[in-house]
Amino acid sequence: MTNVTLSQAQRVVLLLSGAVKGVGLYPESHPAITHPLQELAGIFDALLADRHELRFGIIDGVLFFEQHLFFTPSAAVEELTELLVRKGVESATVIPGLQVEELRHFVTLLSRRQLQGAALAETLLRERIVHIALLLADRDRLRDDEEAEEDGLNPQATYRQALTVVGGIFREIEVGRIPNSDKLRAVVDQMAVLTIKDPATLLGLAMIKDYDNYTFYHSVNVGVLAMALGSALGFRGEELQELGMAGFLHDVGKTRVEKTILNKPGRLSSDEYEEMKLHSENGARIIGEMEGIGPRVAQAVLGHHIRFDRTGYPPWARALPFDRFCDIIAVADCYDAITTLRVYKSALNPKAAVELLRGLAGWHLDGALVEKFAEMMGRYPVGTLVRLDTNEIAVVWRPDPHGGEQPTVKIIMDAVGGMLEPPLVRDLAAGAAGGEIVAVVDPLLKLIDVSKYLE
Ligand SMILES: [Fe+2]
Ligand SMILES: [Fe+2]
Repeated sequence: MTNVTLSQAQRVVLLLSGAVKGVGLYPESHPAITHPLQELAGIFDALLADRHELRFGIIDGVLFFEQHLFFTPSAAVEELTELLVRKGVESATVIPGLQVEELRHFVTLLSRRQLQGAALAETLLRERIVHIALLLADRDRLRDDEEAEEDGLNPQATYRQALTVVGGIFREIEVGRIPNSDKLRAVVDQMAVLTIKDPATLLGLAMIKDYDNYTFYHSVNVGVLAMALGSALGFRGEELQELGMAGFLHDVGKTRVEKTILNKPGRLSSDEYEEMKLHSENGARIIGEMEGIGPRVAQAVLGHHIRFDRTGYPPWARALPFDRFCDIIAVADCYDAITTLRVYKSALNPKAAVELLRGLAGWHLDGALVEKFAEMMGRYPVGTLVRLDTNEIAVVWRPDPHGGEQPTVKIIMDAVGGMLEPPLVRDLAAGAAGGEIVAVVDPLLKLIDVSKYLE
């Protein structure tokens, strides 16, 4: 591996800090923006020809790029240092494959004043910036449990943090590193507290889907759903946390599957399917190497595609004694997959999805668990789009606490089809304001993104 020279490091700092400033001053296609970005991408590319990654950031208040520390501040050094500190970024890792367009997008997001800390990291993920990952400084990482509990946990922040952590783990594995499990443990810790305290909000958040970052959102949603089901079954403490980890990591073996297969819009060929099927055993192997994660998590990942009737894959593992973790993950996995729109299939609404799970009970899935899941989701699960007898359209926001047909909803469209902004919250059980659910509505027909009402 060739060393990064000091002049290369200085050039990177100069170009990067100039580009961040430039995007605010010039149109995107202006040479003042495109030229430095092309040069920067070229330097990264050349340096990454014989290494896995490049890292820059702040260490004890001093800017570094790889092994070079910038003690003597130039204007560019000062500006970049100030920017990273303000954004709550401890370091950024660049991996091979970064194209100019992605770099431009990264720089643009970095230059947005309001975007910092966890929100910045999450936006990068959402916007498919996958060749640069941020490590956040301490103040922006998860606070420890006691502190967090004192001022109340925030489900939205915890959900976002879970996305960032899961995204980071996947990326580290992709570049050949074995990730540390500390951050994962911290986030499942918080999630476990919230699952017991406020499951309805988390179930709403688990309805957020992201087409472009399917794997990350799917992983987090499966973790959230599995923990909610586990909690409904009476799991607490370490057991609930381990179940969450198994959910978050159940598809981690997909990091070993060719991207072309993973993102293929149509049906897989039989060879491709065989490769895809290796993800459960590969995932279990990866988890086995991660410190601080118990064997029960690896076991659940290994068996998450073994069906209740002991068919499924990998075939060699069918006779192993899997515990309930496996069956719980399978239910959560199935539910999230069928409520998500993919290129090759449409999404089911939550109510229809619960019905479909019932059809799989007893052979594909554990029937008792499916019933418990259905009970937990209620007659109209959170995220279902419904029509009321007043002809208003609403999104189910909180389940009916008594398991009945009167959840709390957000009315998003009035009786004559006008959108309500902001939506009106109405507890249907309260009766006075009226409104009884008469039908489930397909969000696609109304072109409504249900998830935006659930955050
Ligand atoms: Fe899977
Ligand atoms: Fe999955």
